[in-house]
Amino acid sequence: MNKNTRVFHVNGKAHEEQIREAARILKEGGLVAFPTETVYGLGADALNEKAVMQIFEAKGRPADNPLIVHVDSRENCMKLVRNIPEKALLLMDEFWPGPLTIIMKRKEIVPDVTTGGLDTVAVRIPENSVAIALIKYSGKPIAAPSANLSGKPSPTTAGHVLRDLSGRIDAIIDGGDVTIGLESTVIDMTSEVPAILRPGKVSKEEIEGCIGEVKIGYDDKVHPESETVRSPGMKYTHYSPESNVVLVEGEHDPVVSRTKELIADFNLRNAKIGLLLTEESRSSFPGILSYSLGNKNEPEQAAKNLFFGLRYLDEQKVDIIIVDGSFRKDGIGMAVFNRVRKAADMIIKV
Ligand code: TXA
Ligand code: MG
Repeated sequence: MNKNTRVFHVNGKAHEEQIREAARILKEGGLVAFPTETVYGLGADALNEKAVMQIFEAKGRPADNPLIVHVDSRENCMKLVRNIPEKALLLMDEFWPGPLTIIMKRKEIVPDVTTGGLDTVAVRIPENSVAIALIKYSGKPIAAPSANLSGKPSPTTAGHVLRDLSGRIDAIIDGGDVTIGLESTVIDMTSEVPAILRPGKVSKEEIEGCIGEVKIGYDDKVHPESETVRSPGMKYTHYSPESNVVLVEGEHDPVVSRTKELIADFNLRNAKIGLLLTEESRSSFPGILSYSLGNKNEPEQAAKNLFFGLRYLDEQKVDIIIVDGSFRKDGIGMAVFNRVRKAADMIIKV
């Protein structure tokens, strides 16, 4: 892999010529990274086996971890799936375009490489004008995992993508920062009771408001590789920077005191420390390298800042990242905790 990665700048607006050029690369079987509302994706023609295989190669992704297929319309989704449950249609009405990925039975046309050999396929319509234009101009459904090296935090800027994949992909469309910062909610509509396989911005409560009871089909721990799990992606190490990550979970005051103890301890061992702090905690740690997760009562901010902060502190070559887990756990906060727990080498509850 030694590609000349072209960079198309569109500054959040759909600059037609450049997006058409990127679409042409996709049509010809190339790899193009592009912004969505959640994180940057690494796209290939979902129906072209060779193209999809390159995604796995570029990311270093295990071949049994299936991809999400991105479409621009419900009609184009219908070309990929069969036996669509009534409730899946309700979810499409309510949440598409948007950060909800729906797993349904696949049609023959979707190749095994795209679905990791499963007889289901994950589909979503992204809510980003650049992504939609790219899909439209290519005239293809686009398979796209997050555009990071496998195991690294998902990319929320074009810079993140280039750091991981420059020279390994054909092009990237730089459409500025993403708006949400965490990957989509994934729901499996093929089981009797629909199951949420990955939490995201669309919450369990919102989904239940639309289709009734659903179950939680994920946990926040990393599964051993041997275990059979529903969503193959759940068993791999995720979101982990080079540094060791310690999550301190609890209310503001005890989190601050425990973090101070940890810092004293790591200082004795000459470890370089970086902190991911809520705004409320920042004044307690003057002079220590830190990045803000935002206001503790607004978990949307933590969602947007988490992957950026992990990557930022990692680049400062810290040995330890301590994450202040005192932000709210409701709404997207649930999903933020899920990602931090997966990234963490140690979780301390206070
Ligand atoms: O927000 C997002 O979802 C981003 C943007 C680019 O759309 N994409 C993304 O893709 O996060 P990826 O590949 O990093 O995560 C897809 C997750 C994986 O955990 C995978 O195992 C699961 O969805 N998945 C995909 N197809 C599946 C299927 N047929 N059955 C079960 N799980 C599936
Ligand atoms: Mg990913």
